[in-house]
Amino acid sequence: MEGLQLIATGGALPGRLVTNEDLSKLVDTSDEWITTRTGIRQRHFCAEGETGTTLAVAAARQALERSGLAPEQIGCCVCGTLSATYATPSTACLVQKELGLPQDIPVLDVNAACSGFIYAAAVARGLLVTRPGDPRRYALVIGCEQLSRLMDMTDRSTCVLFGDGAGAAVFALADDPDFAIDLGARGDMAITTPIAGPIGMDGRAVFRFAVEALPRTLHAVLDATHKTLDDLDWVVCHQANSRIIDHCVKKLGADPAKFYKNMDRHGNTSAASIPVALNELAEQGRLTPGMHIACIGFGGGLTWGGMLITVKGRAV
Ligand code: ACO
Repeated sequence: MEGLQLIATGGALPGRLVTNEDLSKLVDTSDEWITTRTGIRQRHFCAEGETGTTLAVAAARQALERSGLAPEQIGCCVCGTLSATYATPSTACLVQKELGLPQDIPVLDVNAACSGFIYAAAVARGLLVTRPGDPRRYALVIGCEQLSRLMDMTDRSTCVLFGDGAGAAVFALADDPDFAIDLGARGDMAITTPIAGPIGMDGRAVFRFAVEALPRTLHAVLDATHKTLDDLDWVVCHQANSRIIDHCVKKLGADPAKFYKNMDRHGNTSAASIPVALNELAEQGRLTPGMHIACIGFGGGLTWGGMLITVKGRAV
């Protein structure tokens, strides 16, 4: 089957660092409560002049430069986001303009909340597959969020959880028996973001959903590729909450060292969390050619998505 192979990554985090201590001056909370419940110690918010779009452009530019490809070689650009700066133009169209991507390719945003990057990659793959004669077999896939503008900074149950950021990846479409993707959704109001309204959440219902969906979609992509957890080099999950990942690692009997975590530094950046994590691994020299990575998203919608990819060439 034709699958996506990871060629290069990029990332961008905004300039305003907000610690748990800073939040404890705004609402009745503490570093101890936030850290023990979520594993989050700090997050980045957009500063003056920064938006989800500026972060997306920076992350995408870095991924494209590191890929060694020319803009003309990109066959589609898809951005996962639930907090796009504009309803239209889409973030992806603004990235296209800034990077000088071709005009005769599909360019769009996808909203699948915290599963957004996996959904965006699936859409990108589908778009490339439907253009078999086109030599531009590369997709630029982005996850970006400016959740700080959707947060009620007087609600301690949500304002401590989220952060802003963007990550991007360049994928190549190639015949690959080690590629699999699994997507699903179940309409539910457990996580809500009204148009121009704050994020609301039934935290316990989301926890129950996440610890069921994560192992299920991970097993789906392993089964599809006839692999086991031992065959994976990394599992890069959506970084909602450290306890969700710990719970799943225990349930799966997995090696915790394979489950990358960075929510302590960035909080929950929704669609950006998986590509930001991939980019960190790449920058740390911990992604090498031939590695197998499972990326697992879960979140608002409710949605979930798993993807098994192989690192091709140098990831950075
Ligand atoms: N600081 C201090 N106390 C707080 C805070 C805070 N920031 N937030 C809530 N509390 C209080 C509540 O008011 C409540 O007090 P009460 O008992 O006097 O009424 C108490 O803490 C317990 O509140 P719960 O909401 O029941 O807290 P819980 O133990 O469930 O932890 C949490 C909340 C961390 C959100 C948990 O439900 C969780 O891990 N959920 C998973 C969902 C998640 O992480 N979502 C992220 C976004 S969605 C996604 O990305 C998939």
